Amino acid sequence: MSDLETYLEETARQVDIALGRYFGDVFGDLYRAGAHLLLAGGKRLRPAMLLLSADAVRHGSSDNLMTAALALEITHTFTLVHDDIMDGDTTRRGVPTVHTLWDEPTAILAGDVLYAKAFEYITLAAAEDRARVKAVNMLARTCAEICEGQHQDMAFEERGAEVEAGDYIEMAAKKTGALYAASASIGAILAGCGPVEADALYQYGMNAGIAFQIQDDLIDLLAPAEKSGKDRGSDLREGKQTLIAIVARERGVDLSKYRRPLTPEDVDAAIAELEGAGVLDEVRRIAAERVTTARQALQVLPESQERKYLEELVEFFVRRSF
Ligand code: IPE
Ligand code: IPE
Ligand code: MG
Ligand code: MG
Ligand code: MG
Repeated sequence: MSDLETYLEETARQVDIALGRYFGDVFGDLYRAGAHLLLAGGKRLRPAMLLLSADAVRHGSSDNLMTAALALEITHTFTLVHDDIMDGDTTRRGVPTVHTLWDEPTAILAGDVLYAKAFEYITLAAAEDRARVKAVNMLARTCAEICEGQHQDMAFEERGAEVEAGDYIEMAAKKTGALYAASASIGAILAGCGPVEADALYQYGMNAGIAFQIQDDLIDLLAPAEKSGKDRGSDLREGKQTLIAIVARERGVDLSKYRRPLTPEDVDAAIAELEGAGVLDEVRRIAAERVTTARQALQVLPESQERKYLEELVEFFVRRSF
């Protein structure tokens, strides 16, 4: 295991402990539904990016920022609860999704409770008032952007063949890039950085997040559900306009025939078609370009162990298999 992976494991452990402390014994059905996915684990990569970014601009500043890191994880989890309703998925983080274990109204409200909690937690960060206001402002704008991205994601299911690679990148930037951009930038802002560093880290997180979403789309296809903790082939079944689907169409492979309930054999058949046309390699190449852009954005930061970890983190985003 690399040093970065050890760091990520240790950070995830700390995030799990903190979430357990705050959400472990909540009272009532709605709050239990809200805590369900929060306590089910997850990679905790947004908190890690926030804490690394804070330390990359001012070493040691992450010590006071756990509540801000939790705010980002809570925001992310809120989007997952609602995303699973929209995508009709039954498994998340290796456990049943909130709307299948409870019902859709409860899942909508559980997501809403988490959305509110995220803002409560970000205001608790131990930082200058001005920095905290900037962080709250960025988190609010980010939540609206995620909604825009998720709305595009759903609308693209109906637009089908009209959707082009540029449309996909814009959608992924909003639904996934924006939250990573905010994680990196908020960490730096709360650590007291200036505008140049805040902007550089925003660009870093944005490009890293786009690469992350492309890899997520590959994982949806390639990873067994036991590994990813999520429904395999969900994007094919729902007719998502992923970069995979768009590049496939450009190369004469039409995935729309897989828009139906799928067996593992169906998903394997789709993979064989895609591999045959070189689609997956092309998609990986596009993700790698984003990795390079993300790494370049870090060059304004002083050299440090944390900057090195941030460089490695975005490489990890496209290397991961779950
Ligand atoms: C899944 O995010 C949703 C996307 C933005 C693609 P993660 O892959 O970070 O999910 P967890 O938090 O580890 O469960
Ligand atoms: C959704 O993307 C990203 C969010 C904003 C939640 P996906 O729909 O691909 O995420 P997964 O694969 O269900 O985690
Ligand atoms: Mg989904
Ligand atoms: Mg989705
Ligand atoms: Mg996905």
